[in-house]
Amino acid sequence: MSSLREKTREFEELAEAAKLGGGQEKIDKQHEKGKFTARERLEIMLDPGSFHELDMFVQHTCRDFGMEKQVYPGDGVVTGYGTINGRLVYVYAQDFTVLGGSLGKKCSEKICKVMDLALRNGAPCIGLNDSGGARIQEGVLSLAGYGEIFYRNTAASGVVPQIAVVMGPCAGGAVYSPGIQDFVFMVKGTSHMFITGPDVIKAVTKEEVTFDELGSALTHNSKSGVAHFMTDDEEEALQKVKTLLSYLPANNMENPPTVETSDDPQRLCDELYDLVPLDAIKAYDMKDVIRVIVDDREYFEVQEHFAPQLTVGYARLNGRTVGIVGNNPKFFAGCVDIDASVKGARFIRFCDAFNIPLVVLVDVPGFLPGKSQEVGGIIRHGAKLMYAFSEATVPRVTVVTRKAYGGAYIVMNSKHIGADLNYAWPSAEIAVMGPEGAINIIFRRELASADDSNRRRTELLDDYRKKFANPKLPSEYGFIDEIISPHLTRVRLIAALESLQGKRSLKPYRRHGNIPL
Ligand code: HXC
Repeated sequence: MSSLREKTREFEELAEAAKLGGGQEKIDKQHEKGKFTARERLEIMLDPGSFHELDMFVQHTCRDFGMEKQVYPGDGVVTGYGTINGRLVYVYAQDFTVLGGSLGKKCSEKICKVMDLALRNGAPCIGLNDSGGARIQEGVLSLAGYGEIFYRNTAASGVVPQIAVVMGPCAGGAVYSPGIQDFVFMVKGTSHMFITGPDVIKAVTKEEVTFDELGSALTHNSKSGVAHFMTDDEEEALQKVKTLLSYLPANNMENPPTVETSDDPQRLCDELYDLVPLDAIKAYDMKDVIRVIVDDREYFEVQEHFAPQLTVGYARLNGRTVGIVGNNPKFFAGCVDIDASVKGARFIRFCDAFNIPLVVLVDVPGFLPGKSQEVGGIIRHGAKLMYAFSEATVPRVTVVTRKAYGGAYIVMNSKHIGADLNYAWPSAEIAVMGPEGAINIIFRRELASADDSNRRRTELLDDYRKKFANPKLPSEYGFIDEIISPHLTRVRLIAALESLQGKRSLKPYRRHGNIPL
């Protein structure tokens, strides 16, 4: 009879063997491609020694196409829980060394188990994706497995943060899990996402495209808007996941963590006077303004490379997380277009779901005019931004730094769509449109028949500017609560958010609204 110690050793040996996944040869191949293995990735991301693996001996049951000879303990994914900066997270990491990380039914069951645990225990769920997609040998069983993951992604949406880190291929319908999750990280060079690859595209449409054109980190960060972060290597991606989590609550019933800061809440921001030119057509970088205002100049931007005319991201004010939405005049004059609307709307909805107050910095000449925008559906896409702000019940504070014209004034968290406190700098210009456009419309006939039309135009422009190129009128109407000196922006924002901490919102019951998708 063997002793308990011997029995235990037996299982410890089995566990050690299981840690090799598809074997040393496959691990070496993975390293040659510049990629870490699933377990190495988890080790980098989680606090040292905190990982508890589950389902280490789960195996697939497929016995077709020679699969009986390719059975590996744990199958194609490593799952479990651990901590990041001391906070609980659930994780799964696809193991490319086992059948290319392809997803069979047992892999899906393992992933669903940690997703269920994450939802029940109110902790973020992080998936590290590196997979050839649906395991072909398992047929419809692997499709069923994907469906069950997508179903849980949807159920967990708005309850716990869900993060996808794409660190290899992510093809076919497999992309819909990251597609539903809140944040998608991609690594330059090694990660790709697409529904159909170059060969299928060529066969069906004759179009020739490369893997990179279709679904590289750059493509999805700068063009499609599918991804939110792009990093130079895997290590940077995993470190950035930690930084992102530091701003977020563990679930929708909690507030984001508060951080000790040595940055004085009463600090004055004199630099702002030199950053923002008074001339409304001169560009500046709104991110510089944000960095001056927030704690320790730390601004964690989301979707930096997509629709840069609207910057969104996280920062802290007096140690508390805020979600920032700002027009950025440095790009396309800060005009709101289709991509900016969709980007902003999704960010706002995440913040609203997870109790993150919104700070909105406005300098916007309007919605971007043009046929491609109209035909592309700027009406329904712009409506997303309007809808997202309008339904957000977290504290919402706005600062107009310069221009706020037309529909873009309304949509950028104006008082009229439910903002709590609205501030304007003395440089604010709030009107239906800019002076040139306005004068051309309302004085078209007079200017056409005037003897000295240039002189008359200058007079009319001066007059319009005097009337609208300051925040006095909107503050007389009560649309702006206070005209603030720029150097007081940080102080005012901190006080405003403090005052809104107990904000309650009562809404009539409805199953859900119908956001224009
Ligand atoms: C079973 C797979 C597999 C898959 C890869 N492998 N993908 N096994 N099902 N889907 C296996 C390979 O046979 C190989 O096994 C090992 O994984 C490593 O693959 P390689 O091709 O050697 O690696 P690499 O050269 O790096 O290429 C990786 C790849 C390529 C680009 C992912 O394998 C590939 O194109 N795979 C098919 C991708 C695909 O079309 N998937 C289905 C998408 S449709 P050995 O034993 O030789 O090491 C889909 C529908 C989902 O996913 C729908 C959900 C709703």
